[in-house]
Amino acid sequence: MPAIAILGGQWGDEGKGKVVDYLAQRAHTVARFGGGSNAGHTVINQYGEFRMHLVPSGVFYPHVTCLIGNGVVVDPKVLLEEIDLLRGRGVDTSRLFLSDRAHLVMPYHVLLDGLEEEARGAGALGTTRRGIGPSYVDKAARLGIRAGELLDREPFRKRLAFVLEQKNALLTRVYGREPLSLEGVFNEYCAYGERLRPFIRDTGLLLEAALERGEWVVLEGAQGALLDLDFGTYPYVTSSSPTIGGALTGLGVSSRRLEQVLGVFKAYSTRVGEGPLPTEMEKEMGQRVRERGHEYGATTGRPRRCGWFDGVAARYASRLNGFTGLAITRLDVLDELPALKLCGAYKVGHETLEHFPASLPLLERCQPVYEELPGWQAPLRNIRRFEDLPPRARAYIKKIEEITSCPVVLVSVGPQREETILPRPLF
Ligand code: GDP
Ligand code: IMO
Ligand code: MG
Repeated sequence: MPAIAILGGQWGDEGKGKVVDYLAQRAHTVARFGGGSNAGHTVINQYGEFRMHLVPSGVFYPHVTCLIGNGVVVDPKVLLEEIDLLRGRGVDTSRLFLSDRAHLVMPYHVLLDGLEEEARGAGALGTTRRGIGPSYVDKAARLGIRAGELLDREPFRKRLAFVLEQKNALLTRVYGREPLSLEGVFNEYCAYGERLRPFIRDTGLLLEAALERGEWVVLEGAQGALLDLDFGTYPYVTSSSPTIGGALTGLGVSSRRLEQVLGVFKAYSTRVGEGPLPTEMEKEMGQRVRERGHEYGATTGRPRRCGWFDGVAARYASRLNGFTGLAITRLDVLDELPALKLCGAYKVGHETLEHFPASLPLLERCQPVYEELPGWQAPLRNIRRFEDLPPRARAYIKKIEEITSCPVVLVSVGPQREETILPRPLF
């Protein structure tokens, strides 16, 4: 019966892929519910190192069924490339299924993502240019094309012709670009449809059946709470809901099925793309953490901006999602630092702010109020028991628990599957 959601608590890239890969040992189903190939989830295991964009991170276990839910926007080309790559490296993808209701990323979405970014000039959002925003726009505008539609050629051609006429008008008249050919897009997507046919299902039924059998189901989040369309640092957000509501609508699963909601956080903060990062480190410290942590985007390779742990943002993410526990990753990246800062509140002038504000101008004026803790200055990567962590590392974890009022149930001390510590049993 139970479902466990694994959600990003910050600005994405918290290490969700690693945590899902670790926890999927005990699961029977792993399901992605939102975002698209803007996600890059790194998994390192016996097959090697993978950056998963669409395929759920549980695919490496022969006993796990992987679902791409209705809430995901799927670029079929990227998905097929990912499937080919996995197969080429010996990973079985026969238990992977794609929702017939999942919207597709079309070639005009990718084009428009780039053109819109360029048109924004200095106000660019720093999107991944994977067509994610434009695809969700079309879903809401009822102009989207869903995976299931690829399987029925003639109705698909009709709908594509209708949509493409509007998109070509936009491409040519607003952006002065060449129009896309109906035949070209139609044939390309029909070919994807044929290859994807064995994967396309009503994934909601598969999920329900697994839950009815009493199996553990992992709901794999993409992005993070501060990138949420409603609750993130709007407009510097993604176009979906990476928070718990998105997990439910993105899979068609009831909230009554949820047993645990795990928030994944780095032991510090990072952000890729534009937008506020209140606890951003000064240049030198930021560089130091970026180099030690190899903080470069898994999807775009862009350098990630680094900041101290932001307790205000973390409390906010915890409230929105109802986290039952936290997974803290990349604790080892802080190994060498003599002193560590954690932000428990913001100051604006003489006022203290304990809640994450909606207003961007206000957020930009917020000064983090830091508490400083001594660093442990010892390597953590070989430690496997919580009691064996240096007292200062445990104190750092305890401080995060205090700030967020949420227990830490998993500590990650390296990118490999086994570099994981469970302070208490999770299942
Ligand atoms: P995701 O998008 O949330 O899955 O995270 P990414 O894969 O984009 O970024 C997380 C990065 O941190 C990846 O390079 C992981 O291999 C790496 N990683 C995850 N956990 C740890 C950890 O505990 N320590 C270290 N050093 N790296 C980690
Ligand atoms: P994972 O799942 C980090 C960011 C982009 C940009 C903003 C909007 O790996 O944690 P979009 O292409 O979604 O329209 O871009 O959101 N972004 C992410 N940042 N990790 C991600 O995914 C992200 N997905 C989107 O960098 O700032
Ligand atoms: Mg990532």
